[in-house]
Parts: sequence; C-alpha cells; structure tokens
Amino acid sequence: VQLAGQEHFDAVLAKDSRVEPKDWMPDAYRRSLVRQISQHAHSEIIGMQPEANWITRAPSLKRKSILMAKVQDEAGHGLYLYSAAETLGTTRDEMMDALVAGKARYSSIFNYPTVTWADMGAIGWMVDGAAICNQVPLCRASYGPYGRAMVRVCKEESFHQRQGFEILLELANGTAEQRAMAQDAVNRWYAPSLMMFGPPDDDSPNSKQSMAWNIKRFSNDELRSRFVGMLVEQVKVLGLTLPDDQVRFNEESKTWEHGPLDWDEFKEVLAGRGPCNAQRLERRRTAHEEGAWVREAAVAYHQKQQDKQKA
Ligand code: ACO
Repeated sequence: VQLAGQEHFDAVLAKDSRVEPKDWMPDAYRRSLVRQISQHAHSEIIGMQPEANWITRAPSLKRKSILMAKVQDEAGHGLYLYSAAETLGTTRDEMMDALVAGKARYSSIFNYPTVTWADMGAIGWMVDGAAICNQVPLCRASYGPYGRAMVRVCKEESFHQRQGFEILLELANGTAEQRAMAQDAVNRWYAPSLMMFGPPDDDSPNSKQSMAWNIKRFSNDELRSRFVGMLVEQVKVLGLTLPDDQVRFNEESKTWEHGPLDWDEFKEVLAGRGPCNAQRLERRRTAHEEGAWVREAAVAYHQKQQDKQKA
C-alpha cells in the first residue's frame, strides 16, 4: 500500500526512519525544524566572536593557528546548518535578516565575555563539551539533512573539546597564577554551560512535541545531567574543581544532580539583556554590512557565468 501525506509521515516516524526534504511533512514539524536549525546555525556564527576575541592574543603561534582553525570550523557549521534549514523552504537571507534585526534566537552561552586566555580552554572543554552532549543524539534526528549535518559537526566538536581541555590542563599544571586563571574560567563558565541545555523540563514548551517527532531524543534535564557526570570525572584529571558543592550521583534515579541554576539570569540573556548581547549583535550587523560587496560580487559572477552559457 502506498501511504501518502500524514499517514506516510507517521509511518516514517514509527519506523524511526528519516524524513527527507521532498517528503510531505506537517507544517508545524517544518516550522519547528526551521526554528531549531536556524537558531543552531546562528549560534555557530555568533559563537565565533567570543573566541575570535583571543586570536590576536593567543600565547603562541601554535595556539593561534589552532584557534583560527577552530573558529573557522564554527563558520563551517553555521553554513552547513543554514543549508539544512534552506531545504525546508526558508532562504538564508530570511534567516540572516532575522538575526541582524535582533529577532532570532541564538545560544545564551555566547553572550558572556571572554576575559582571559583560560576562557579559550573553558569554552572548548565545557561549551563544546555541552554542545557534543546535546548534538550526538541529534545525529539521529528524524529530519535527514539535519541529522547528517550533525555527524560531521560532532566530529569537529570533539577536536574542539580536546583542544580546550588541553589548554586547561597546561594552565592547571603551570604557575600558581596560571592555575588560578584556569580555575576562575571554569568557575565562570560552569553555570552558563549547564544552561545551554535549555530550561528545566517542566518549563520547556517545545520538548514534548520535538521528542514525539524524533527530533530531540532526550530531554533538556537528561542531557544536562549526563553532562555534569562527564565534567565530574574530567575535572579530576585537570586537578581543578567545579564551583558546585551540590553535585552528586543519585543512586535511585541513576542521574547526576547539580546545585540550583539562576533561571532569571537565563531569561534576561534570552530577552537580549545578557552581558554581551548588544555587542555580539552589533558586531554581526557590521560584519554583514561590510560583507555586502562579497555577496554582490558573487551574484555578479553567477550572472556572468549564466550569460556565458547562453552565448
Ligand atoms: N539559549 C538560547 N535560547 C534557548 C536556550 C539557550 N541555551 N535553550 C532554550 N532556548 C530557547 C528555545 O530556543 C525556545 O525558544 P523558542 O520557542 O522561541 O524557539 C525556548 O528557549 C524554550 O526552550 P525549549 O522548549 O526547551 O526549546 P527546544 O526544545 O528547542 O530545546 C535546545 C532547546 C536544547 C537548545 C534545542 O533547540 C537544541 O537542541 N538545539 C540544537 C543545538 C543548538 O542550538 N546548540 C547551540 C549551541 S552549541 C554551539 O553552537 C557550539
């Protein structure tokens, strides 16, 4: 029997198979994917800024070249993700316009300042570590282009995480001042990186439906807990500590628990009032305007090639 429309879509999900761009899909599924994928893409693009801040001040040529490669990877992730979202019928221009107009969301984490070199370590270890925890399950997202994009993104994120960990390891084994710098960075990035997983489950309006659609595979709290468990083990290798004396493994639920997070701060950041929101958006706007000539040149080149073919 040839199923069509909603029936076909339901059958694909029931088989845990993949929805592809030309398949029929409910409008709400399409909209929610564009929402999540475009937010994800924007996060990668805005996420270049906090680390780009340290490229010129990296402590050695080797560190500088690694950091440059990492920031370029993030640009690549953003472009992949915009392409994946475009397969759902939203143009990159529409997404980019929403971002520069301040109407689009991107991850809260990128609205915090990077004040010392150790922040490059903490971002790699914790922020990219959180990204991996969240994104490995997304490799199995029901929407084909998104899931496939995640495979490569996760591989690159693993490299990013190791480079961050290694920065911290070296600082933690350095002078007393370097060690203090590493601990201070871990202290500052801990809570914001836990908040990357989104609001608690009972305050997460999209989770239930996204899980029913096989987009999300685990809830925000489940992934956050898994991430805490990962940090607990790895921080021991660093010889540093987590700024949370309430971290513990709950034997009954078999989950890691952590101390309370400041969800008012999270809401403020989402409302555009975090420490660096204005600066991040302004920088993106300027880069977009200054890049106008590149877009114009690309269009002119494309036009010229088409004219040549016609001639
Ligand atoms: N920062 C900014 N906004 C957030 C965050 C966050 N850390 N967490 C949740 N939100 C937003 C959601 O986008 C949603 O907003 P919307 O309804 O206006 O779109 C709202 O808060 C409510 O949250 P949820 O209902 O829990 O939303 P959702 O089910 O989409 O879960 C999550 C949020 C976990 C971030 C999900 O969208 C996801 O997995 N996205 C892909 C990963 C991603 O975007 N990572 C970006 C950072 S990692 C990196 O780029 C290196």
